[in-house]
Amino acid sequence: MNSVSDFDQVRQAFMTDVITGLHQAQKTIPCKWFYDETGSALFEDITKTPEYYPTRVETALLGSITPALSEIIPNLGAIIEPGSGASIKTRLLLETQPNLTTYLPIDISAEFLNTTAERLRLDFPDIDIWPMVGDFSTTFLPDQIGADIEKLVFFPGSTIGNFNPDEALGLLRNFHALAGQRGWLLIGVDTTQDADQLHAAYNDKAGITARFNKNLLVRANRELDADFDLTQFRHDARYNPSESRIEMHLVSACEQQVTIDDERFDFVAGESIFTESCHKYARDRFLAMAATSGWQLEQLWQDPVESGFTLMLFRSR
Ligand code: TRP
Repeated sequence: MNSVSDFDQVRQAFMTDVITGLHQAQKTIPCKWFYDETGSALFEDITKTPEYYPTRVETALLGSITPALSEIIPNLGAIIEPGSGASIKTRLLLETQPNLTTYLPIDISAEFLNTTAERLRLDFPDIDIWPMVGDFSTTFLPDQIGADIEKLVFFPGSTIGNFNPDEALGLLRNFHALAGQRGWLLIGVDTTQDADQLHAAYNDKAGITARFNKNLLVRANRELDADFDLTQFRHDARYNPSESRIEMHLVSACEQQVTIDDERFDFVAGESIFTESCHKYARDRFLAMAATSGWQLEQLWQDPVESGFTLMLFRSR
């Protein structure tokens, strides 16, 4: 259980982010606030919609490459996963890499992390599970993980796309520090550039992505005592080809006011709150970013059937 003061701190940080974001010319709320309990459950549902191909495609791809992976890195000893969540895809690696002794899931939610770790310990009794509370800026490992053990940082889900290019470079550098000398990075990158396919994936017919996006306002109403009228905002996910990214917005249907913590925010009809970008880095662009951050491409595997989703394996230089 979170203590009361934890809750107050989180609420205060959420408040500050929302108020600051809504004061900007392009109103914005940072995407990290999507993931309360409802938001995390809705995200799970998104991954099961027929239009949202990344999870399905990446899982299939990962299942098919595990023999190749153990050939390329026969002595892989430890997997480190920033933002591990429920560690579902990781199981495909834990089940197949013969010399693995250690798994380090890193997540911001201590509670979720510990529940997941308990389950993994039952299912993988021969692997040491070292859960670490931390975010994507974590660059140190517990002392018990020796420098000589061969490490792979695993970063699936095209989560790298939720960061702008500068932030993504920073993350790739952090992963380099985590993996250490002779370390490895296995990363899922969605290089799809087909506007129609992208539009469909982020505007699913069942409207789950819309609910996921609008849950930010539900959460602000509940936790910040805001008064967003949920019927007067609509989900909009647009592909911006010049930036090759999907941009998610919540668009005000009319001229209206919203009050949060005694502050009033005015919206004109059609004005939006920018909530998230999902970059679709083209392959060569991403390889260049990785090279800048000290990573050399070892091998890549692209979805052969329906998309540009690609698993890329890098070795540290
Ligand atoms: N990183 C994934 C993606 O860009 C998952 C994701 C993050 C997502 N935020 C989302 C998917 C919002 C749909 C909607 O696709």
